[in-house]
Amino acid sequence: MSGLHPLVLAAAEGDLPDWAQVGKARRRHMKRVAKLMKTWAQARGEHEDEVRRWKAAGWLHDVLREADPEALRPQVPEAFRDLPGRILHGPAAAERLAAEGVDDEPFLHAIRYHTLGHPGFDDLGKALYAADFLEPKRRLRPKWRARLRERMPEDMDAVVRDIVGERIRHLIKRGRPVRDETLGLWNALVEPER
Ligand SMILES: [Fe+2]
Ligand SMILES: [Fe+2]
Repeated sequence: MSGLHPLVLAAAEGDLPDWAQVGKARRRHMKRVAKLMKTWAQARGEHEDEVRRWKAAGWLHDVLREADPEALRPQVPEAFRDLPGRILHGPAAAERLAAEGVDDEPFLHAIRYHTLGHPGFDDLGKALYAADFLEPKRRLRPKWRARLRERMPEDMDAVVRDIVGERIRHLIKRGRPVRDETLGLWNALVEPER
């Protein structure tokens, strides 16, 4: 018998909970992310349930992506309430999944921080962060993304470092704030200065 929560097992097959708020295009994005997650988990030789868990993270990361951000804001812990609306869906999905009885904290953590990044990511968290950014239909810089995809999952830390570096540069270029968690992920992946 699987140790995974029924909701997680269903999501691994592409069956989303009835409280999901996603349109067709978003669903296709989630499916592509789930497919990358499956491929990478299998390439790592993970056992069946772990492959399902990685796939389910791909399917569930954006489960509330199209909910009204202002409806999500009061549902997330205090520390996330000042986030821009488009980032609230990660923390909100983690809260909702926990309320449904999902108690796999690293799984929830990966979903909570899939947009921001976090220095405490385990491999599932890093893989989800990378899969969301590298799924093949992303329009911006497709060749660069394809090259990074080719290096996954073997070269995961370096790939994630390249992605977070790019995201930080992008935020700086647009004069946006960079969250501590995002900088923390960068710092966790570079060699300490001597
Ligand atoms: Fe997202
Ligand atoms: Fe996404």
